[in-house]
Amino acid sequence: MNVKSYDEMIRERRMMLKSEENVERDEWAPHQIKGIPPPPLEKPYPEDGVLVGLGSPNCADLGKIPLAKAIVQRRSRRKYSSKALKLEELSFLLYATQRVKHVDEDGVRSKRVVPSGGARHPFETYLIVNRVEDLEPGVYRYLAIEHKLLVVDRGGLLSDKISKACRGQAFIGESAVVFVWAAIPYRTEWRYSVIAYKDILIEAGHICQNLYLACEAIRAGTCAIAAYDQKAIDSLIGVDGTDEFTVYLAPVGKV
Ligand SMILES: Cc1cc2nc3c(=O)[nH]c(=O)nc-3n(C[C@H](O)[C@H](O)[C@H](O)COP(=O)(O)O)c2cc1C
Repeated sequence: MNVKSYDEMIRERRMMLKSEENVERDEWAPHQIKGIPPPPLEKPYPEDGVLVGLGSPNCADLGKIPLAKAIVQRRSRRKYSSKALKLEELSFLLYATQRVKHVDEDGVRSKRVVPSGGARHPFETYLIVNRVEDLEPGVYRYLAIEHKLLVVDRGGLLSDKISKACRGQAFIGESAVVFVWAAIPYRTEWRYSVIAYKDILIEAGHICQNLYLACEAIRAGTCAIAAYDQKAIDSLIGVDGTDEFTVYLAPVGKV
């Protein structure tokens, strides 16, 4: 087997952080330019899928702290109280991170609460629920257009499994809920072809920062997580690991 040297790997990986100079090459033309229809803005779900309402995404009574205060006091929080998160608080956090505010008439682009290159929005949000009022423990997917949850697996408490899948970081299993952001790269590749990946990673950061700030506003805490076992998390949330896979996680709990 041809194993790349350390230097080769580093050079190759660093390229992803740069702007691509040969982007005009014909064989790299984005599918959008080739006239191939765009992928759906949200991952489709079965007609008979079980949905959970999140109420109207009305944040009137939540998140009322000055923005400057949320920015200054934000930090990674790894100790959570045993208090459950309220469903309306979870609804607020989902709204603050990924809610779709507008879908263009032609269905090609959407606008969410965070920016996205070409308005492609490549992420789906999965939740591993441990302790949320009115929500059975298990795995859910956020439907960002409908502002509802889709039940993926009400298979009970997954605290141990999620901690193990995050390289033994025990505090993650002690949280009330874990946000898992899985990318569907083709949504961004469709428009940006081989340079999609830099955008996708930058965008994960936007989403997670909103979660940090929104948590501060409801006396909750979160911690960005990039140390995890790819196969274990992908299998926990039920994604294929090729066309959709986990990029980033964040446990949330009351503090
Ligand atoms: C991309 C990224 C990955 C991270 N991964 C982990 C992680 O796996 N485990 C963890 O405990 N903290 C993780 N953190 C949190 C950092 O340790 C934390 O942001 C840093 O120590 C600075 O502390 P602060 O966020 O409180 O300012 C991560 C942060 C980022 C931005």
